[in-house]
Amino acid sequence: MPFNNRNRDLLSLVHHSERDLHYLLDLARDLKRAKYAGVEHQHLRGKNIALIFEKTSTRTRCAFEVAAYDEGAHVTYIDPSSSQIGHKESMKDTARVLGRMYDAIEYRGSSQANVETLAEFSGVPVFNGLTDEFHPTQMLADVLTMTEHSDKPIHQISYAFVGDGRNNVANSLLLVGSKLGMDVRIGAPRELWPSEEHVAMCRGFAELSGARITVTDDPVAAVSGVDFVHTDVWVSMGEPVESWGERVDLLLPFQVNAELMAAAGNPRVRFMHCLPAFHNSETVVGARVAEQYPLLKNGIEVTEDVFESPANIAFEQAENRMHTIKALLVAALG
Ligand code: CP
Ligand code: NVA
Repeated sequence: MPFNNRNRDLLSLVHHSERDLHYLLDLARDLKRAKYAGVEHQHLRGKNIALIFEKTSTRTRCAFEVAAYDEGAHVTYIDPSSSQIGHKESMKDTARVLGRMYDAIEYRGSSQANVETLAEFSGVPVFNGLTDEFHPTQMLADVLTMTEHSDKPIHQISYAFVGDGRNNVANSLLLVGSKLGMDVRIGAPRELWPSEEHVAMCRGFAELSGARITVTDDPVAAVSGVDFVHTDVWVSMGEPVESWGERVDLLLPFQVNAELMAAAGNPRVRFMHCLPAFHNSETVVGARVAEQYPLLKNGIEVTEDVFESPANIAFEQAENRMHTIKALLVAALG
């Protein structure tokens, strides 16, 4: 398996080795420095990239577009309402059409099977921009951000994800840490633990990498001594709005508030979130939830005081989406 990632898909991270991941992270650091120093070269001139978004996005779409433009490539943004995808044309046929015109395809949607079909039938590299199961491009940004905010060797970095422990971000954080030999904890109620198959697969990777994996229903045990506390929304895109009631009941003890941050027992602990975050009731969804659960008016999965504190590095993380996606594109197509 070539570690330079040329023509590689990024579907889940399951098939990426530790070395592959380090290559992408190193390249992202180089490209970030080059952009800051104003000495960037365009490695992707003449390339065309299709961006399929069946779910909404701010960061992922913008990161792909800016990364492509910085590198001299062109993009086409495709959403289901303005294309034939799904209602009139199968993913297999879409793959065979787009593969004739584009050098790479990004896909965001519900189904992991769709991104795998695109990869199988398009003949060009395919990148998963989020499915219900995985969010691999987010992981490159998350690990880059953690290494930028820690002086420790990567194997000594510890992080917890507290919240819906079986969503795409939690699954992916468990996976990436198990590949990279990190100390990864998932803190979630048992009903929302990652699947046994996923944990078993990650434990297999951990045996090779030296990663330490903990899945616990005790939020304090999850964060104790960690360098980074991650969370994500309690109800993900595509889940029914009725899920809120059950989730609030289950996840209230896992809210990232000042008390939980203090429970890390680490004055340097940092807060991370893939964003968007419900940290007050100023969004439509935040207001609706707060109306029903007044307890959550100052934030749902994270409270306003934590989010607005210097511990929050979620915006560094958001910026790094662009540098890491750029590395992915340059490695695959440059
Ligand atoms: N973190 C993330 O994927 O953000 P978007 O949904 O805005 O792309
Ligand atoms: N788990 C969230 C991540 C958003 C970037 C969702 O799928 O909605």
